[in-house]
Amino acid sequence: MRNSYKLFFILCLFVLWSCDQKKEETVLKAGLVSDDVAVFYPDEFDSVNTFPSLAIIKELSYEKELPKEWSIKPEFTKGDSVSIVKIAYPEGTDLYGNGEVTGPLWRNGTKIKLWNTDNFGFGKFDGKQLYQSHPWVMGVRPDGTSFGIIADNTYRQTFDLQNPITITSEGPSFRVIVIEKNNPAELMQALADLTGKMNLPPLWALGYQQSRYSYYPDTMVREVAQTFREKQIPCDVIWMDINYMDGFRIFTFDPKGFPDPKKLNEDLHALDFKSVYMIDPGVKRDSAYWLYQQGSEGNHWVQDSAGNEFNGEVWPGQCAFPDFTRPETRTWWSGLYKDFMSLEIDGIWNDMNEPAVFDGPEGSMPFSNIHRGGGDLPEGAHIRYHNVYGLLMVKASREGIMAANPDLRPFILSRANFLGGQRYAATWSGDNVSTDEHMKMSIPMTITLGLSGQPFNGPDIGGFTGDSNPELLAKWMALGAYYPFSRNHSAIDVVRQEPWSFGKKTEDISRTAVNRRYRLLPYLYTLFQEASTNGMPIMRPVFFADFKDVSLRKEDQAFLLGENLLVVPRWAESPSLPKGDWQDVPFEKEDDGYQPIVKLKDGAIVPITKLVQNTEQYSTDSLTLIVNLDNDNKAIGKFYNDAGQGYGYQSGEFELMEFTVTATDAGAYQLAAEVKDGSWKKEHTYRVGIVENGEIQYSEWKKDDLNFKME
Ligand code: NOJ
Repeated sequence: MRNSYKLFFILCLFVLWSCDQKKEETVLKAGLVSDDVAVFYPDEFDSVNTFPSLAIIKELSYEKELPKEWSIKPEFTKGDSVSIVKIAYPEGTDLYGNGEVTGPLWRNGTKIKLWNTDNFGFGKFDGKQLYQSHPWVMGVRPDGTSFGIIADNTYRQTFDLQNPITITSEGPSFRVIVIEKNNPAELMQALADLTGKMNLPPLWALGYQQSRYSYYPDTMVREVAQTFREKQIPCDVIWMDINYMDGFRIFTFDPKGFPDPKKLNEDLHALDFKSVYMIDPGVKRDSAYWLYQQGSEGNHWVQDSAGNEFNGEVWPGQCAFPDFTRPETRTWWSGLYKDFMSLEIDGIWNDMNEPAVFDGPEGSMPFSNIHRGGGDLPEGAHIRYHNVYGLLMVKASREGIMAANPDLRPFILSRANFLGGQRYAATWSGDNVSTDEHMKMSIPMTITLGLSGQPFNGPDIGGFTGDSNPELLAKWMALGAYYPFSRNHSAIDVVRQEPWSFGKKTEDISRTAVNRRYRLLPYLYTLFQEASTNGMPIMRPVFFADFKDVSLRKEDQAFLLGENLLVVPRWAESPSLPKGDWQDVPFEKEDDGYQPIVKLKDGAIVPITKLVQNTEQYSTDSLTLIVNLDNDNKAIGKFYNDAGQGYGYQSGEFELMEFTVTATDAGAYQLAAEVKDGSWKKEHTYRVGIVENGEIQYSEWKKDDLNFKME
């Protein structure tokens, strides 16, 4: 080869090589939004295709320059049609969060794909791609100081949790938000500050709930409700899955099986039950169906890339799908709930909203489908809006339910959602399996959703698919009493799994478990109120008891319920438990061997109340304060109380109390019950139960004189 050719050849190779190289992007802007929140924008930041953020509710404007010592700094690069962010962190840091996937609580080394997926039995993608997306990861350093990272975009993306963390998004360049805090609890509060909080739910939503795909016809619903009352197993809600509908047409009722839904709901109310009904997004393509006609006339459907109505298969057959990016469509959708809720329906279950499309690519819509947007939201392809389809749907559902019942707190359960979606709906973890493995992994899954901003969640108790069995249901009911969302649900083709379905032993264990939950309601409701004001998870990892104790960082069999209770399932193998004098709370006189060991923190008080069969009967007139005195013979606890429904609490109609119990001399105790906030002045009768060495010793009930003497 002549020299000039050689040179030309080398030059070509060089050009090819350099084209193939990933283009380094330098950080265009980075600054502090507040003392401990920084935002980083890449050079090629694409605001048109990533703004407005559907996760972040705050305007993030720079206050100050990034300090030199700021250690968690994203590095942005571009690859072939992907945007990449790499973030290095100090060795020894433990990673958590990133939403609901299977696997341990400790997320180091995990690869998670964010693409909301109808994942039956968690069987696809090794369970690392489920129904919701949380582009959020948190790191806890050995000294407890913590950082959190938000990849503020909605596109399909993977989080590879090595060191450095690599986030690869199939969308344009996006901004990254980094939070630095003294500990993970402060980090949770900062996350809630940025992405919003769960609204305080109605008290009934904290009760035990019974579901099945499907109770049909309505006589079966009545029978299930009646059986709970006869068997004296507390329960608040019965759920209606898709079979109540007429040919799976949403907002309709099967004329044979559910001829008079209003009467059914009234009858359920007479038994102090609430009802929740499913509404899916897919609308049957049926020219004789009023809803399909309305949607077509209003031009409400998601379109294919050619601009035609997109159709895909779900339960009713070929369906059209509301384009929730359009404000007009959200308004239309909201309006549909008015007549529906007027049938005395109490809550709504939005399912299949990934959206699941049986005959679509990867079980959803083609990436190229068009969502037309409007208002703040620009038009975008499905790849941009897929992960927030569920979020936008529940936002519209919530607005509709609130407009229909302006005096009531809404309750919505959603299968799909996105970071920040706690503002609109609670969630459950989808179609799990009736196995020990799935029961056990529900603990890290529930905790992780809480660490990802969603406190109100839980799995299908008993398992959804596959037959449950007496032993599994007993264990799962015993555990399920402590999930923030406590609902037993099963598939259409499996054996029945109501608490009484497997005979007396399982029934008795279930009753004991649910009884415990109802007695703990004053404490649980206090935790919900806390979550709604500062974003703290309800179910927490054990390491929240001691941020610096690194031996607790991987514990995900035992868990904390709020700050003061530690729950240790009976099947937990060598759990790592926090140091300190945590005392067992003996709820029952006889141990059935299934109920978790519940431990009360040193120096803490947990308020409990008398057993009721549902939250309509909930009363806090007489409170028992379970007390674990510390070395100074003192204990402190909190108690929140309001009407359990409505919005009076927003104008002060509540009481937030702090209790302090002090042992004065042998056997004598003093209780100070101080109102910390709220205008309610309720009278309570108290008794104190001191726990020590697995025993509990109760004082007499007292009203005015708050000096107690033990018998
Ligand atoms: C899928 C949901 O995950 C499940 O809970 C429900 O029972 C079925 N859809 C039927 O509606």
